[in-house]
Amino acid sequence: ISKVGIFTSGGDAPGMNACIRAAVRTALHAGKSVTGIYQGYQGMIDANFQEMNSRSVSNIIQMGGTILKTARCDVFRTPEGRKQAYHNLKKAGIDGLIAIGGDGTFTGAEILSREYDIPIICIPGTIDNDLYGSDFTLGYDTATNTVIEAIDKIRDTAASHDRLFFVEVMGRDSGCIALNAGIAGGAEAILLPEKSTAIEKLCTQLESAAKSKKSSTIVIVAEGEENGGAYNVAKEVKSRFNFYDTKVTILGHLQRGGSPSSFDRVLASRLGFAAVRHLLAGETRVMVGLCGNEIKTTPLEEVLNKKVYKLSEDMLEMMDVLSI
Ligand code: F6P
Repeated sequence: ISKVGIFTSGGDAPGMNACIRAAVRTALHAGKSVTGIYQGYQGMIDANFQEMNSRSVSNIIQMGGTILKTARCDVFRTPEGRKQAYHNLKKAGIDGLIAIGGDGTFTGAEILSREYDIPIICIPGTIDNDLYGSDFTLGYDTATNTVIEAIDKIRDTAASHDRLFFVEVMGRDSGCIALNAGIAGGAEAILLPEKSTAIEKLCTQLESAAKSKKSSTIVIVAEGEENGGAYNVAKEVKSRFNFYDTKVTILGHLQRGGSPSSFDRVLASRLGFAAVRHLLAGETRVMVGLCGNEIKTTPLEEVLNKKVYKLSEDMLEMMDVLSI
C-alpha cells in the first residue's frame, strides 16, 4: 500500500477527528501518503479528495464532528455508484482505505472491497454503541455524558415545579445511551428498545413515585422503544394518570456534538493507530474494536451479522430498585 484513503460516513460522532488524526499520523509515520476523502461515499463518487499531511490534523483532537464531513449516500448502494467510486480511487492512486462509521458504512465497505480489489479496515464510530466486536463505539461515552448533563439541568427545573419529564434520547435500536444515562442521571424509569415496558406498569411506578412525595420525576425514553417515542408515551400516560404537570424534551442532535471525552479521545487514537497498522500488515474487511482492554479485529461479515446485546441484566434489575 502506498496511499491510504480515509473517510467518515453516516452520522458524525465525537472522537472521529481524534481518530482521523491518529490514522493520518500513523500512516505518515510508516512512510505512506494519505488522502482525505470528503463526505464519505459521496466524496468517493464525486472525487472530493484532498492530500493530507501531519499539519492537516493539528488541533483537531478536541473537536466534535468530523473535519472530513460525512453523508448518507444512496448512489453508493448501486453498482454504478461503486464503479464510479472505485474508478476515482484508482485514478487518485488510493490503494487502501480506512472507514470510520457505523453499520451502514461497514456494509458499503464490505461490498466495495469484495467487488473491487481494494483493502478496507473499518473503525466503529457512532454514538449508538450498537456494533458487535467492540465494547464501545467512538462517541458513545461523550454522548452519554451530554445526556447526563441535560438530565441534571432538567432535574433542576422539574424539581422546582414538581413536574414529570419524559426525555427522549438517541440510539436508534440500541438502549445503551438510555440505560446508562438514565442510571447515571437517577431517572425514575427508562424505556428501552430491548425490553418492553407496558404503559400500565409505568403508570403504577409513577403513581408510587407521586405517593412517596418525589418532587421531580424523569423518565428516559429511548427513541427506538416500542411505544413510539416520548410524545406518545407522555400522551398515553396522561390519559391514564394525570397527577403531575407533564413535559416532554427531545434531546435530538445536540447529543451528537461537543468535544470528545477523554475516554473517546484515547479510544479514537488507539483505534486509528491499530486500523492503519492492520491495513499495512495486509488485512482487509475487518473492524478494529475494543474488547476488554485490548484492540482486536473482527471480520466485517461477523460485525454485520451477529446480533449485539450490550445491556447488562444486573443494571436492568438495579434500575427498578434504585428508583423507588
Ligand atoms: O446513528 C446515530 C444517530 O444519531 C442515531 O442515534 C439517530 O437515530 C440517527 O443517527 C439520526 O440520523 P440523522 O442525523 O440522519 O437524522
